[in-house]
Amino acid sequence: MGGTSYLMTHNPKDFEVVFRNEGVWPHRPGSDTLRYHRKTHRKDFFQGVEGALPTQGKTWSDFRSAVNPVLMQPKNVRLYYKKMSQVNQEFVQRIDIDTQEAPDDFLNVINRWTLESVSVVALDKQLGLLKESGDNDQAVLLFKYLDDFFELTADLEMKPSIWRYVKTPKPMKLMKSLDGVQEITSAYVDEAIERLEKEAKVGVVRPESEQSVLEKLLKIDKKVATVMAMDMLMAGVDTTSSTFTAALLCLAKNPEKQAVLRGLRIH
Ligand code: HEM
Repeated sequence: MGGTSYLMTHNPKDFEVVFRNEGVWPHRPGSDTLRYHRKTHRKDFFQGVEGALPTQGKTWSDFRSAVNPVLMQPKNVRLYYKKMSQVNQEFVQRIDIDTQEAPDDFLNVINRWTLESVSVVALDKQLGLLKESGDNDQAVLLFKYLDDFFELTADLEMKPSIWRYVKTPKPMKLMKSLDGVQEITSAYVDEAIERLEKEAKVGVVRPESEQSVLEKLLKIDKKVATVMAMDMLMAGVDTTSSTFTAALLCLAKNPEKQAVLRGLRIH
């Protein structure tokens, strides 16, 4: 129904063949709904800056060339590990220490943890989604819009759908969720700009090594920084939650491997 056919492989040998043959610009099928949102539905906002996730060819390459020097830096680990540890502590506190039981809505807590972690980098702030009292309206709304995005995209892109021809309620709802992600991300980016301007006014000067990813992206261009933040939120949450859940399941089924991990000392 207008979508491309594609094949999923789980064999690393196939990955090698693809990587060795993709040329300078990889062609990644999929993300048609997200492309529609950025190219057509909200063309007024994106103005040709369509990010990394839904783009191809030179458009993709130009965007990556702009953001890579900021993002592809191993030293970013040093910049964020303390803030990430703080988020991890809050996550662990959601598990009952006495009974060692996870809460009933554990998947929801895992998703909050991954969004909270990605936000530390993408939005330069913690949203407070793991705190007992932390139900800040804007953050909860962002969480909901992203959740709808994962669910609706999977539905519209993986199953036969007439969304390209008829705007049924599902694609309409997806466009609304994507509008929401865009609006809330923009608001958080504005907040970060205000914070940085206030700091600059009182004479705070940070060395390059202490400037955040968002701060450096903003120096390139505000639109690039905002769209990159959206891409991180959209690509980093569900992927990490699924991988983490699978890792937990493997560990749960293999107690002897848990013992190995407990015996590890990290220096
Ligand atoms: C275990 C967790 C993750 C998995 C399994 C995963 C997997 C993937 C895959 C398969 C792609 C597509 C690559 C391609 O089309 O060539 C991708 C792209 C991407 N991921 Fe992840 N990802 C994870 C975590 C994250 C996180 C935490 C972030 C951001 C904070 C992130 C940001 C992105 C972005 C921005 C892209 C698009 C890159 C581009 O098109 O140039 N991902 N990821």
